Formats: sequence, structure tokens, C-alpha cells
Amino acid sequence: MTTPNQSDKDRVVIFDTTLRDGEQCPGATMTFEEKLEVANLLDTMGVDIIEAGYPFASDGDFEAVREIAKRTKNAVICGLSRAAHKDIDRCAEAIRVAKRGRIHTFLSTSPVHMKYKLQMEPAQVYEMVISSVTRARNHTDDVEWSAEDATRTEFDFLCRCVEAAIKAGATTINLPDTVGYAVPEEYCDMFKRIRETVPNSDKAVFSVHCHDDLGMAVANSLAGVRGGARQIECTINGIGERAGNASLEEVVMAMRVRNDKLPYWNNIESTSLTHASKMVSAATSFPVQYNKAIVGRNAFAHESGIHQDGMIKNAQTYEIMLPETVGISATSLVMGKHSGRAGLIHKLEELGYKLSKNQIEDVFVRFKALADRKKDIYDEDIEALVDQEMASSHDRIRLVSLTVIAGTHGPQRATMKLDIDGQVKIEEAEGNGPVDATFNCIKSLVPNEAKLELYQVHAVTAGTDAQAEVSVRLSQDGRSVTARAADPDTLVASAKAYLSALNKIVMKNHRDVQVMAEAGH
Ligand code: KIV
Ligand code: ZN
Repeated sequence: MTTPNQSDKDRVVIFDTTLRDGEQCPGATMTFEEKLEVANLLDTMGVDIIEAGYPFASDGDFEAVREIAKRTKNAVICGLSRAAHKDIDRCAEAIRVAKRGRIHTFLSTSPVHMKYKLQMEPAQVYEMVISSVTRARNHTDDVEWSAEDATRTEFDFLCRCVEAAIKAGATTINLPDTVGYAVPEEYCDMFKRIRETVPNSDKAVFSVHCHDDLGMAVANSLAGVRGGARQIECTINGIGERAGNASLEEVVMAMRVRNDKLPYWNNIESTSLTHASKMVSAATSFPVQYNKAIVGRNAFAHESGIHQDGMIKNAQTYEIMLPETVGISATSLVMGKHSGRAGLIHKLEELGYKLSKNQIEDVFVRFKALADRKKDIYDEDIEALVDQEMASSHDRIRLVSLTVIAGTHGPQRATMKLDIDGQVKIEEAEGNGPVDATFNCIKSLVPNEAKLELYQVHAVTAGTDAQAEVSVRLSQDGRSVTARAADPDTLVASAKAYLSALNKIVMKNHRDVQVMAEAGH
């Protein structure tokens, strides 16, 4: 990562519209308290301008903008308003209490919007640009004007409107790609040409505002900056109308990681990005897609054996930024069926296990078998595998196979094959339920006097494919032993736990016999 060259001309202002364009998309409504919480985080993480809402839309929106304006310490608080004077006045009232407030007024300039939406002639639109900006300027010095649907606006008309807005007092000119139609080259070009053509263009800051209908919102925003814009309007997690807006975390990290090609800088504390993403996702109930750049749960996760091997040798093999820079504590090597030995060894070390080569081989075989049956392998699953490996390495009785017939029509039946001291034996038994049938098989194959004192099942992790962990306590001659086993199949886990406890008893008896022999009895 290169260090940004922080000269004023390369400074990009980050304008966050999560609470306005983000919140106005279907289903993303936030409560008053949630808006305050998000605004507070945006302010502390270095957002320059927070578009807190559209005050004319409802009393709730008005109150939220006003409260955010009252509380915010650093950022400029902006309210959106249409071109109508009553909209602008209401917006002005909401932001009046802010340390620094901005009115953002907009009007459509494209032929299709003017004809069908506004039902106005271009000349009327032109006049309204002037009157709306003038009205806003009477309330505050900080006025932003947006040419809605700028990317589908006829170039000469756009230039005239921009020039008029600046003349009327607009200090920021936003040229949105309202319908996400632009491609990067043309969006970059539009800014270059407008800035070259409009005589007073040097009196305003130009701004990008891109929607993601063709998946190019971030690329277009950065292209606009290359064309001379110095404000990016964006949202946390890219939420917004339809396919969303440019995502704040992506534009910020693109400028930081590829500063060699995008030599611009901004004031965002990038370590807050993950926290902000989680907060907005929780407030809106919009899940973050797993593979979302920067903040998706897979953005720093590696499962394939080849990638894990590379990552263990050097993180730069498959990561272009440190997870810590976006507020994630560490890369995660996700264990699954694509993981290899190197990944497993790394995970075992992380979990604090020191195993011999043979034990690792055994655990690896068990791990692969489990991964074929279970989608997500958690640390607890690996721990259960190792515990089994440790427990079973001296076992004299081992489970070879188990088949159980269960269901509504009893009696339930189990067929079991055991390896007892190297000899494979098979038995079939019935029972009052599948567990009873399984344990009856064991009793016939390994006759014993042990009494079952405890049988307990719980899931190692969440989900219907979670491993069941079974605990069994057996007692014999006044002594009891407890054993545990895990498996995605509860009955297999039950058989293994029972056998593990029996093995302990057998070992105890064996030791007793040895001790007695050594004592000469
Ligand atoms: O997408 C858009 O054009 C907007 C304007 C109101 C700025 O959100
Ligand atoms: Zn928008």
C-alpha cells in the first residue's frame, strides 16, 4: 500500500448519504435512534458531510435531521430538498442548529425527466435552478445543487444550468448518474468537459453521485474524480435506490490501496469500516453479501488448500490489504473440504495442539471425511476431532460401522461391526429406540457389567448439519468413567462415546491386572 500524497488539490471530500439515499430504498428504514447512532459513527470516522435525510418528507425525517444537526461535532450536516421553496425552507429549519449546515437542492435536467416527470420546458427548469439555489443561499452559504439524471442530460443544457447554479450561489455542483447508466470513460469525460466549458466552474467543487444499476458505481465515482470531481457521494455497504449507491468502503479503500493509480486522499479512518458496515446492516436489516468487497464476511477468508498454503507462507500472496486496516482483527482460514494439510496444521497450532506426524495424518483423514459431510467446519469441530484422536489412539475396541433402522414402526434395529483387538465382529440387536438398539449391539459384542449412568447429547455448533457431541458415563465396581464423542450422526456419536467409555474401563481393568501381577497376586 502506498502512502497517500496529501496535497489539497488531491483531497476528496466524502459525502455520506446512507441516511438519505440509503434509507430511502425499499425496506431500509431506520428508527430515529438508529439514525442518531449511525450519524455519530459517521462523524467519528471522519465523514466530511453527512446527508442526514430529506426534512420535507415527514416530521420523523425532519426531527432526525434536526437532532443529528444538533449533536454532530465535526461533519457538515446536509439536508436534501426539492426545488420548491417550501421544501428548501423546511430543510433550512432542520439544519439551522448545525455547527455547519448544508442545503442540497436538486432538479432534473434530462429530456426524459423534464418531459415526463416534471412536465416542464427546459426554460422553466433553467429558471427554477436559479430561484431554488438563490432561495437556499438566503438560508446558508453552503449550498449544493444537483442536476438529477445529469448523465442523460444534453451537454449544452447541462453547462447552462451548472453555470446558472454557480452564479446563483451554489458552492458544490453534483452531477449524478441517477440511473446507473454511465460508463467510467464517459463519466470522467463529462466532468473534464464541463469544467473546461463552464466559465465559472472554478468557483464550485464538483461532486459524483453514482448508482449501481450496471455494477459500475464505484468505478464511475473514481472516474469522475479523475475528471476533476473532488466530492464523492456514497453509502455504507452501498445501500441505496434500486441496485444501490457507490459503496463508501470501496471508494475509500480503492484510493488507499491503489494510490499509485488513484493519487487522491480522504479523511476516513478506515479501521472503522467494518464496524460501520455491521451497524448499518443491523439497523436496516439488510444483510451484507458474503463476497462484498472490503466488508463481506469472505473478504479476508480463505478456504482452498492452495490459497491457505500461500497465505501461511506470506499473506501478500492472496491479500492486497491488511484486514486490520479495515477493522477486521485477522484473516480467517476457513476450514472446509477444499482445505489442505497446511491449513489444518496451521489451525491446530492456532488452537494450541501439538500433535505427532501420525496423529496429524489421522486427524486429517477424519477432517476430510467430516468436511465431505458438513458444510462449515468450526474450531469446535476440529477440537472434537482431535479429542477423539487422542482418546482413540490406544483403544482396543473400535467402531467399524453402524447401521440403524429407526422411525415410527418399532422395534428399532441396529447392526454394528466392531474391531476388537484386531478381530472384526458383527452383531444385530433390537431396542426401545435407536440409541437403545445401538447400545444393545455393543453389550452383545462386548459383554460387560458396566452400568450406564449418564447419556447426554448436545450440538457442537449451530445448524442442522452440526456435529452432535455425546457424553456417556459408565460405572463398574464402584468406579465410573466418562467419555465424549462427536459426529454429525447422533447415533454414531452415541456408539463412539459408549465405546470410548468402555475402552477406558478395559484399560483400567488391564492396568489393575498388571498391577496385581506385579504385586505377585
Ligand atoms: O440519484 C440522484 O440523482 C439523487 C439526487 C437526489 C442527488 O439521489
Ligand atoms: Zn441517488
